[in-house]
Amino acid sequence: MSLTFASPTITPTIRSFTFSSRRTNNIVMSAIQPNSASLCPILTKFQNDCATPTPYLRKVADAIVDEMQAGLAVEGEGELDMILTYVDALPSGNEEGLFYALDLGGTNFRVRSVQLGGKEERVIATESEQISIPKELMIGTSEELFGFIATKLASFVAKEKPGRFQLEQGRKREIGFTFSFPVKQTSIDSGTLMKWTKGFHVSGMEGKNVVACLNEAMEVHGLNMRVSALVNDGVGTLAGARYWDEDVMVGVILGTGTNACYVEQKHKIPKLQSKSSSGTTVINTEWGGYSKILPRTVFDQEMDEKSLNPGEHLYEKMISGMYLGEIVRRVLLQMCKTSDLFGQFAPAKLSKPFVLRTEHLCKMQEDNTDDLQNVGSVLYEFLEVETNLNARRRVVEVCDTVVKRGGRLAGAGIVAVLEKIEKDTKRMSSGKRTVVAMDGALYEKYPQYRSYMQDALVELLGHKFASDVVIKHTKDVSGIGAAVLAATNSIY
Ligand code: BGC
Repeated sequence: MSLTFASPTITPTIRSFTFSSRRTNNIVMSAIQPNSASLCPILTKFQNDCATPTPYLRKVADAIVDEMQAGLAVEGEGELDMILTYVDALPSGNEEGLFYALDLGGTNFRVRSVQLGGKEERVIATESEQISIPKELMIGTSEELFGFIATKLASFVAKEKPGRFQLEQGRKREIGFTFSFPVKQTSIDSGTLMKWTKGFHVSGMEGKNVVACLNEAMEVHGLNMRVSALVNDGVGTLAGARYWDEDVMVGVILGTGTNACYVEQKHKIPKLQSKSSSGTTVINTEWGGYSKILPRTVFDQEMDEKSLNPGEHLYEKMISGMYLGEIVRRVLLQMCKTSDLFGQFAPAKLSKPFVLRTEHLCKMQEDNTDDLQNVGSVLYEFLEVETNLNARRRVVEVCDTVVKRGGRLAGAGIVAVLEKIEKDTKRMSSGKRTVVAMDGALYEKYPQYRSYMQDALVELLGHKFASDVVIKHTKDVSGIGAAVLAATNSIY
């Protein structure tokens, strides 16, 4: 269990990138020899098919804005769900009391307690625990998954140190539940699962109220807690970052999966059937579902067909961390079959889906040794193949092609969201600072991906707006965001 205290406030880890301070691209790419691809027709074709020149990215960004508008107009229209989150009030800083966050959305889930101290003290104390989810639970039954979560939650609460954390008398413990899958929200504290993504496929849950599933499991395990806010991780990131910075308008996740959530004007949401159309609300775009204009290759198509959610989340499958390694693996396998990439035979391991992961690609792309030694070690360790320099160079080229396309497409998505905001608010043209809060291991740990994403942002936004946009890396603020939203929506 990690324990953090801070006085007077605990601030999240934040790294900012502003366009006015645009870096010179100092990322080492020396390992890539642009001409070696020409010797390999598959690679040349793949590179051409993956190309995302600026005019093409512009079309992607415009198409995403169109889909956002379609999704806001009529429920179920357009490729983006544009989910109403019922988060109308973002944190003000005045929130006080003890609240919890439970975060489920990847291979780990996290529980957190947060003692909020109001404007002056903000986060007085926070404690968290991360638990990895056994693989079989990701594709098992809802009782098994939520039963496991409730057990861990119960032991977390049992370890709580009195004094540090104080629950007001007569109150139940309230939770902000971050559930990072597409959910059709019916209120701030309920919503039904639309579909699973990111390799989850728990049976019988689609169409079910996920909060009810958690409540039932908590009851079975004798936990006297209630969910006060059900939030997506993008919403949690936006809310958590907003707690410290009122210019945050967008929360983006670039991790195993991807998503963007942003602050929308209610009168720009035709499908919102409420009498009051003034003010703002947070929209969960579920942009992973975008698919119209995308540079899809045969490798993307084949990977999609074999996935647990074929035909769905195609943008996510091109830009998020779960899939980049798998695309590379498929290209390498084809290169082995047609151009003797690793000698006469393809290594047996290369036929194993998902054997290459994003962190392996990153390690290979960061190799700046003359003979690409690190690339050699990764290939030896994970594919059990000995390689010469030429093969290593080609592997790096494949990685770079996939990562460049992913990063640039992600950049186009962010521009689309910023332009949608700009259209309705004219924030940026009036010189108002606009912050995108960013979280996710892909953004955090993959410098080349980040750099390609930033290039696309600058190319598309132009210098007119770029100087007012800040990309803030807000690591792990989504838990704080969820706890603060539980406070905002407390029943007490
Ligand atoms: C889910 C989103 C989530 C994103 C990032 C996607 O697969 O559909 O709801 O926000 O992953 O975790």
